[in-house]
Amino acid sequence: MKKISSALAISLILTSIGISPITAMAIDAETLHNSSCIECHSRMTGGDGSLLYNREERLVHDQTALLARVGRCAIGAQSGWSDAEIKAVSLYLDEQFYHFSK
Ligand code: HEC
Repeated sequence: MKKISSALAISLILTSIGISPITAMAIDAETLHNSSCIECHSRMTGGDGSLLYNREERLVHDQTALLARVGRCAIGAQSGWSDAEIKAVSLYLDEQFYHFSK
């Protein structure tokens, strides 16, 4: 009973300072990607940045190459992402566009 109420208290504190307890714990790959990656890719494609992931002559053909590419672009973008964040964005792009794992 005591444990539950202290977890609740922490949630309430986080919420009251504007941090959702859920996003405080999980990496939000979509937000990371949208804030660091789309602008440059959109400039390259002249519009929808995600065209880069769907184009016929795309560079990336498996999960390993995707992870490596996200790592390189994350450095290029000076994102300051951790390995876990690079991995999360790589999984996000796979789920949304590449579908290697399905
Ligand atoms: C300063 C520009 C720039 C930024 C910022 C950038 N990229 Fe890229 N990205 C590129 C270029 C250039 C390519 C290679 C395109 C080519 O050679 O045709 C590329 C290609 C890619 C590809 C491979 C697309 C394919 O062909 O399959 C992925 C995946 C990718 N970027 C992910 C990211 C991620 C994730 C971020 C955010 C951390 C990011 N990029 C930020 C310039 C950028």
